[in-house]
Amino acid sequence: MSVDPTRNPSAISEIVDPIDRRLTDVLNIERMKWVAVDASLVEPFDALEALIFSGGKRIRPAFFHWAHVGAGGDPDSKVAIDAAAAIEMLHAFALAHDDVMDHSSSRRGEPSIWQRFANFHGDNAWKGNARDFGEAVAILVGDLAHVIADGLIRDLSPDVSGIWNELRLEVNIGQYLDVLSGVTRTFNQDGARRILEYKTGRYSVQRPLHLGAAIAGRFDDFSVSYTNFGQPVGVAFQLRDDLLGVFGDEQETGKPVGDDLREGKPTSLVSAAFERADQRQLKVLKLIGSHDLTDTEISDIQNVIIETEAERVIEEEIRDLTDSALNELESASLDGKASDALRELALFVAYRTY
Ligand code: IPE
Ligand code: IPE
Ligand code: MG
Ligand code: MG
Repeated sequence: MSVDPTRNPSAISEIVDPIDRRLTDVLNIERMKWVAVDASLVEPFDALEALIFSGGKRIRPAFFHWAHVGAGGDPDSKVAIDAAAAIEMLHAFALAHDDVMDHSSSRRGEPSIWQRFANFHGDNAWKGNARDFGEAVAILVGDLAHVIADGLIRDLSPDVSGIWNELRLEVNIGQYLDVLSGVTRTFNQDGARRILEYKTGRYSVQRPLHLGAAIAGRFDDFSVSYTNFGQPVGVAFQLRDDLLGVFGDEQETGKPVGDDLREGKPTSLVSAAFERADQRQLKVLKLIGSHDLTDTEISDIQNVIIETEAERVIEEEIRDLTDSALNELESASLDGKASDALRELALFVAYRTY
């Protein structure tokens, strides 16, 4: 089966409506409640809503949904819809904070939350520093999303609470390692691999799959197959993100291309280039991490990443990881529809263009 890498597959598009409706409802309820306290509270809730509805792919709720179906759960139950909404809401928290940490000014084709509030500060000619204000509010909007996400997890069985806790810890642990690597600049593949598994792979793929099984009451029966499938898919997903961050089309990804290079993030891609570079190429790669990289410098770095075959190596890795995940899926005994949908999702996240 092949998938169109330029648009969401049906495994996503056919399941998102009830989840999006739940996200809208919960935001409306919170906004109404807090605007009654102070009218200025409309802004953080509007910003959160704008982030959530500006074009996220919804891969996390989709992995959850199909894992839940595969484990015999009812994806239309309130508990399942709420959990899917919780996963996307938690992602909004991660994105709001990530764009502060990475100094990224756009997200999903719109100003990132900190940028939106920095602009708001400027438009109102308020006192103090616009960027500081923007970052402070982005931290708070992210925290609001985190708390709202927690409130949407209704199944508090030990399996579900345990997975939800791990998921939330893992993403923050991964983000710390990511931020740390940006200042220590230790370019090696093993370190890069650990970071991407924690900052992305687990919270984006493995844990949503586990939650799907746990909310169906079948975690013990499915945890091994879902880990064996989800671990390589999660890694492939972030390896693709790293490639898109350097070679992607900003119009499609909706986020600035070159930010990882400006931030000096030792991604797997860049680490592979460092490991394979000769003296001349190393001189170019050492430009990575300077905040004012010019377009020419970015294109020189892109060329070195291609010349050293780092790009080819990462593409091959994505292919191997995806093949191994799909083999695992074949041996898992899931209901046919779930198995096909998870296959479609795995291929989409590995080869997507946005
Ligand atoms: C972006 O995730 C952040 C990462 C963990 C790589 P997505 O690629 O799922 O972003 P959206 O939700 O579609 O915007
Ligand atoms: C994504 O990290 C991880 C989280 C959002 C938790 P990145 O910084 O690599 O993702 P993008 O490229 O900004 O979406
Ligand atoms: Mg980041
Ligand atoms: Mg980022």
